[in-house]
Amino acid sequence: MRRFVTSLFVLAALMVGVAAAQQITLKAADNQPEDYPTVQGLKFMANYLDAATNGRIKMEVFAGGQLGDERSTIEQVQLGVIDVVRTSTSPVGEFYAPMGVYSLPYIFRDAAHMWKVVQGPIGRELLDGLQQANLVGLAYYDSGSRNFYTTKAAGPIKSVADLKGKRIRTQQSEVVLDMMKALGAEPVPMAFGEVYSALQTGVIDGAENNFPSYGPQGVRHYEVAPYFTLDGHARVPEVVMISKSTWDKLSAADQALVREAALASVPVEMALWAQLSNTSRAEVVKAGSEIITVDTAEFQAAMKPVYDKYGSKYGDLIQRIVDTK
Ligand code: GCU
Repeated sequence: MRRFVTSLFVLAALMVGVAAAQQITLKAADNQPEDYPTVQGLKFMANYLDAATNGRIKMEVFAGGQLGDERSTIEQVQLGVIDVVRTSTSPVGEFYAPMGVYSLPYIFRDAAHMWKVVQGPIGRELLDGLQQANLVGLAYYDSGSRNFYTTKAAGPIKSVADLKGKRIRTQQSEVVLDMMKALGAEPVPMAFGEVYSALQTGVIDGAENNFPSYGPQGVRHYEVAPYFTLDGHARVPEVVMISKSTWDKLSAADQALVREAALASVPVEMALWAQLSNTSRAEVVKAGSEIITVDTAEFQAAMKPVYDKYGSKYGDLIQRIVDTK
């Protein structure tokens, strides 16, 4: 009898052990195409988790907006329907306001300034703050600088005056909407996946984004909007987030591992990004896109009303970003 009870205990202990080592499969969403740097970053993260746990933690990556547009995937991550999402920080600002600060026009002097901010105390603070929105911020990815581009029918943007009355697609973000208004354009908020056909059918005159998104490895807007204006009005980082409810179910050791895997994927994404920024620019030029250089000071001056409106909303964040050297 004694022996039987002992074996029962051993069995129970084994079962607890099995439960602790239970298989975890995370579902991750990205709205960019399969081989895009952000998707490859997530895939690196998936492989890292797989290798570090001998296949106990897996992450399935759904690219190309298969799980919904950015707004919807953020909502699904809040609810724990999707576990992980890589998204632009612009729409995240609608769920957790301080994240919108990165979308302010010309807030970053250059790429180095942006990295200094997002990988420093401010970046950390905003990732942590996401918990208020049931999201856990893991890491930032590169997304270069954003620029306007317009259709053949609308004509090129050579100065702020050329934007007057133009219907320009904006991300689903209030800050970006206000920026468009400050420039005299008519903002048309729209999910990223709908922009190509809206440009093609003339529903909008233009949009704005970085070279990799615009180019052949991205969503190919160069095919329907051949004028690309190098005004560099924003430098909006991408963010990788995990659902708070998924996070709370992970052991402390697994949480640390997920964070480690996300951070390990950052230099991978950045290197692919740097490469693609150059090649996509060259490829769109080869395909016939016209690159227009402008007086960026003129664009920057026109954005002042945005700062007047958001200056107090972001408290001392703007000043702290500007002061980051
Ligand atoms: C970038 C970003 C996308 C985002 C897009 C947009 O391309 O990588 O995730 O959806 O901007 O303008 O909406």
